[in-house]
Amino acid sequence: MEIEIRRATSADLSAVSSLWQRCYSIPWSDAAIENEINDASSVFLVAMAGGALVGYALMKCAVGEGELCNIAVEPEQRRLGAGRALVSELLRVAKSLGLDVVMLEVRASNDAAISLYENAGFERVGMRKNYYRAPREDAYLYNYYL
Ligand SMILES: CC(C)(COP(=O)(O)OP(=O)(O)OC[C@H]1O[C@@H](n2cnc3c(N)ncnc32)[C@H](O)[C@@H]1OP(=O)(O)O)[C@@H](O)C(=O)NCCC(=O)NCCS
Repeated sequence: MEIEIRRATSADLSAVSSLWQRCYSIPWSDAAIENEINDASSVFLVAMAGGALVGYALMKCAVGEGELCNIAVEPEQRRLGAGRALVSELLRVAKSLGLDVVMLEVRASNDAAISLYENAGFERVGMRKNYYRAPREDAYLYNYYL
């Protein structure tokens, strides 16, 4: 699959929002997602394949740190490299912005995402007990030092 990674624009809102609502138990409003797309301190990327949006990733940046807040790939397009391409481009942008570290939290049971992050070079640096709800679950904390 030929994958192109580019910055999200408002034109991507409905496709991003649809994927977001299908992948996460606690949804975000379209207004909140659009706010991130237009926020200069956020890096909002989309993965395109065959003219369709197949994934997105959002990193919020502040005081030298990036937080990878959200990443998702269309269920039928997984295991084809889109997730890896999104993380790799986020790390490239983080480096170009001069960030020191990119941080993230992940559900302890999310083997796919944990494997994606560890393969990309993130290091597990901690755990937050019962951090998530719907369902209640621990979070692992990962950092990537640039
Ligand atoms: C996590 C997610 C973004 C991965 O996207 P993807 O496009 O399927 O990932 P890729 O095809 O680029 O895979 C890259 C690596 O991730 C890991 N990976 C991806 N899916 C995996 C799975 N089902 N089981 C184990 N490892 C997996 C592997 O290490 C893989 O490398 P490999 O194919 O060489 O083994 C995708 O599964 C997803 O959208 N999940 C739902 C949303 C989510 O959980 N987001 C993370 C919240 S913290």
